[in-house]
Amino acid sequence: MSGIRKIGVFTSGGDAPGMNACIRAVVRTAVFMGIEVVGIRKGYQGMLDSDFWDMDARSVGNIIHLGGTILKTARCLEFKTDEGTEKAYNNLKSKGIDALVAIGGDGTARGAERLSSRFDIPIMCIPGTIDNDLYGSDFTLGFDTATNTVIEAIDKIRDTAASHNRLFFVEVMGRDSGCIALRSGIAGGAEAVLLPERETAIDELIEKLSLDARNKKTSSIVIVAEGDKSGGAYQLAKRVTEKFDFYDVKVTILGHLQRGGSPSSFDRVLASRLGFAAVKGLIVGNSRQMVGLRGNSVVMTPLGEALNFTHFKLEEDLMEMVSVLSI
Ligand code: F6P
Repeated sequence: MSGIRKIGVFTSGGDAPGMNACIRAVVRTAVFMGIEVVGIRKGYQGMLDSDFWDMDARSVGNIIHLGGTILKTARCLEFKTDEGTEKAYNNLKSKGIDALVAIGGDGTARGAERLSSRFDIPIMCIPGTIDNDLYGSDFTLGFDTATNTVIEAIDKIRDTAASHNRLFFVEVMGRDSGCIALRSGIAGGAEAVLLPERETAIDELIEKLSLDARNKKTSSIVIVAEGDKSGGAYQLAKRVTEKFDFYDVKVTILGHLQRGGSPSSFDRVLASRLGFAAVKGLIVGNSRQMVGLRGNSVVMTPLGEALNFTHFKLEEDLMEMVSVLSI
């Protein structure tokens, strides 16, 4: 047993639905195991500011259904300096924190690896980002909820596209990952999905849209991942319209609404499983691990390994399905 007496928990980077459910699981698992818990507000910035919150089981009551993070989050450049990292560590030690659970994306995990490789403090990372771009877990916290949010928007756009015989380009988040675009494109019945992971062939897209028009499709929806290399939905719509003017073309950028909302049941259960496992992992002496879901099992991946690989390749069958199921 590790002898850990006080765990710090924090959220960092872009917020994601499910972070609160995860905080809840971390706090309550620790309290159940007789370990004190300190919430660190605003991620690594809170470590530098000693912005600490002594938490108990009641601190996380009635939050499982809330989007966002009650611990707030931030991006922190100072922490990336040697002085900043040392200052953070010293503040943690002054508070008596002897282990950490970090909930966030790639930057959060890199910060955790930095801290735990330089100083003697065990840390477990939980993949909390809507982008679903972390190696070590089939799904990251918030991805399912964000995809559901996009699908709700696509369904609304489909109503007006069908009423006006319009072509809509819908831009979604995901940073350099096409995961949100691909799954929401399938579930939303999009005619095409443009992904950072694949070269955008404008002529191929126009040929597809032209064929649809010849086959009496009176409206269309094209999902554009924000990381797509074509320059974004507005630029893409401009380039398509120059060569293909059959449809009246509109553009919708979904933006930050994809980051909010009450977490789905999948994300609530995932958050609870990973938070529970992260604390149990610390108790038995694990450290510097990415806690994730593989198939339907919780697994631990060494941070060094998780950070050296990009997320798994997008599913070939899903990419093939887009053009087949949208004929
Ligand atoms: O990483 C999550 C994410 O929502 C990305 O999909 C998006 O590109 C980015 O954060 C936006 O960052 P910010 O909230 O700082 O504008």
